[in-house]
Amino acid sequence: MRRAALATVVLTGIVGTAGTAPAAALPAAPGAAQVQESVAGIQSDMRAGAQAAYSQLPSHVRNNPAVKNPAKQLGLVKPKKQPKKKTSKPAKTDPNCSNCVAITFDDGPAAPTKRLLKILERKDTHASFFVTAGNAKRNPQMLKSMERAGHTIGNHSITHRRMDTLDYGQVAGEIEGANKAIKAATGQSARWLRPPYGAMNDTVTKAARDKGMAIALWDVDTLDWKHKNPSTTCNVATTQASAGSIILMHDIHAQTVDAVECVIDGLRAKGLEPVALDRLLATPHPGKTYTRR
Ligand code: NI
Repeated sequence: MRRAALATVVLTGIVGTAGTAPAAALPAAPGAAQVQESVAGIQSDMRAGAQAAYSQLPSHVRNNPAVKNPAKQLGLVKPKKQPKKKTSKPAKTDPNCSNCVAITFDDGPAAPTKRLLKILERKDTHASFFVTAGNAKRNPQMLKSMERAGHTIGNHSITHRRMDTLDYGQVAGEIEGANKAIKAATGQSARWLRPPYGAMNDTVTKAARDKGMAIALWDVDTLDWKHKNPSTTCNVATTQASAGSIILMHDIHAQTVDAVECVIDGLRAKGLEPVALDRLLATPHPGKTYTRR
């Protein structure tokens, strides 16, 4: 259409000048805008032609990645809208939770925990939090949010001392103090104990059993607190975890929270589903130590 319009302009020029000045019957030179318009028209026709030729190619030729669609290259075809990056959907779990793993976080809650809870909510994921009495008392609202969201809240002592260096009364006191803080914030009783550093002995086992609690250790240690490198945390968690694993992390470090989305996606990519400890091990035995299911 554009070329036709230009042709008319040019033709009008010839006809127009022919009558009045036959001696110098040169057509008026088209203006720059007209030239541009004409070029655009020609290019458009080329694109259409190239596209038509491309469309006529046999499908096996078109499907060869070496054969480029000229229309696409020339911007004739509108690029398809990239679908919005979806958050990973939970992997399917059977009633026995046979592909489940527990992601667990110790020592909080602290400032980074707030962001972690949002990530878990967005990823439709449940986790477990082993809280110290002090942090539980400082952040009762966060504990309440955890409880409402369906996360498991466990006991991580008052002072974070190695329990294998304490006598029975001291161990019992450590457990009671943190249990009290958890109960005050959530109204629920903790049934899981994670002794700091995983340091335990028969005294710890007996004290836990007497309180009706099971002991949760881990079989995958990300060492997140040591390297504070999100990709290392993600890498260790996702490569070492297998169905039934308990993964250890710490929500007091922002770098750990930075890794969590990657951990969840990586586990799901392996067909594993991160869950709360109460889901992985629904009926723990008091006094028993679990490193995995
Ligand atoms: Ni700890």
